[in-house]
Amino acid sequence: MNSTTTGDVPLSARIPYARPPGPPPMGNNPFALLNYARIFREDPIGFVGGRFETYGDMYSTTFRGVPLYVTRHPDHIHETLVTRGQSFQKPETGFGARQLRRFLGTGLVTSNGDFWRRQRRMINPAFNRRRIEAFGDTMVEKAAAAMLPWRPGEVREIGHDMMSITLAIVAKTLFDADTSAEQGRVARALDAFRNSSGAATILPDWVPLPSIRRTKQALRDVDEIVYGLIDERRKETDEALAARGDLLSALLLATEDGASPSASGARMTRKELRDELLTLFLAGHETTSQALTWTFYLLSQHPEIEAEVQEELDRVLGGRLATAADDLPLVDRVLQESMRLYPPVTTVARVATEDTEVGGWFIPKGADMICWVYHAHHDPRWWPDPQRFDPQRFRPERLATIPDGAFTPFGAGQRQCIGKHFSLMEARLILATILQRYRLRLVPGHRVERHVAVTMSPRYGMKMAVYPQRH
Ligand code: HEM
Repeated sequence: MNSTTTGDVPLSARIPYARPPGPPPMGNNPFALLNYARIFREDPIGFVGGRFETYGDMYSTTFRGVPLYVTRHPDHIHETLVTRGQSFQKPETGFGARQLRRFLGTGLVTSNGDFWRRQRRMINPAFNRRRIEAFGDTMVEKAAAAMLPWRPGEVREIGHDMMSITLAIVAKTLFDADTSAEQGRVARALDAFRNSSGAATILPDWVPLPSIRRTKQALRDVDEIVYGLIDERRKETDEALAARGDLLSALLLATEDGASPSASGARMTRKELRDELLTLFLAGHETTSQALTWTFYLLSQHPEIEAEVQEELDRVLGGRLATAADDLPLVDRVLQESMRLYPPVTTVARVATEDTEVGGWFIPKGADMICWVYHAHHDPRWWPDPQRFDPQRFRPERLATIPDGAFTPFGAGQRQCIGKHFSLMEARLILATILQRYRLRLVPGHRVERHVAVTMSPRYGMKMAVYPQRH
């Protein structure tokens, strides 16, 4: 039975096409759209929060002629992403989606339908537990190496430090690249992409704007590096590839029937490999780096919790470096609570591919649905005293009382983050390695404000002083 019908009665006949309340439609008036874009860009969380206060858990409007539904309710989020996930897909139009596709092509993040299913089936085995755990030592090594130049008492931009650690880790685990020259080139190209202005997406390529030139150059740089890596590696035998532990080798071996050298079936083309590699590279470092930056900020504001973490590290590790096998439950809870308060990804967007329903409302084919992860994470109905940093919320017995959909930093359902276990382990090991040596304290007077773009980062960076840990 199709999820949108009950017997022969179509959904649209069963549920009257009434829409949740909401603001009036946004037409195509460019001034109104620009004004809306400005207000939204300044503080999307506050803006949408105000609408939820006015209209309730789900509101609807029409944006450029398309019905738009916006929700913060865990049940709606769970329905959209999990139980009715088959009736939705990722957006393919709109500014963000176009910008991503231009750079990433059709990798896991940007693809849909049968193509996405095939790619996900081929890539899943590369993220198996054994391979990911084997990355543990690299993660600790890169964190330890990054701290070498740190001097007691100095002030550092911790956001940059976290970004360079996660970048070094993704470069090593993804394509076994240690050389900072390669890493630096990819990082610069990615920066150019991140900073590429909207103009590069909206205007045709031949418009002679510096921002368009920079974006095109960034694309050329990235292609040169990534195709270079792929072509080099493709010269190796299957046995040599299998002996390597990095993700690129696993992707090169992946076939539609499995990931071992003996498996038959089609392999990914050069272009497919490029798109997937770049997707994993981009998706695989910025989010984890933001999660860590916010975690250090929270710990600096809650020294009593930091002391408990310290106690756990001393007890479990006794001064040695952490490994993938170590059990550090408080560190894990601190990270989860930090991602509740500051989810690196604040919204998950979908488009209905057929008439369906969410929360008892009829959702027509083609409608946009925005799930506000951030607002579900800050709702006092599921998280009492929601602004308080309380890692113990994630003790199993308390977590059992939280509804599905109320905590989704990695999304949920079939499109859940493929790097979830990778990044949880990475964040745990980096946090442990740094906290064993240093306490980080926010510089007095430094302004901390959320900035929501592709990920949620501190608008003015995170200036912190580093002090040796007392042992
Ligand atoms: C704290 C770190 C991370 C966070 C918060 C995060 C968050 C997310 C979220 C919310 C989604 C789902 C988006 C949607 O459903 O529309 C997602 C998907 C994805 N993530 Fe992550 N992510 C993190 C780390 C990583 C890492 C380390 C990798 C790769 C090594 C990665 C690769 C991906 C990919 C490829 C997808 C698309 C999966 C698919 O649609 O099949 N992510 N991530």
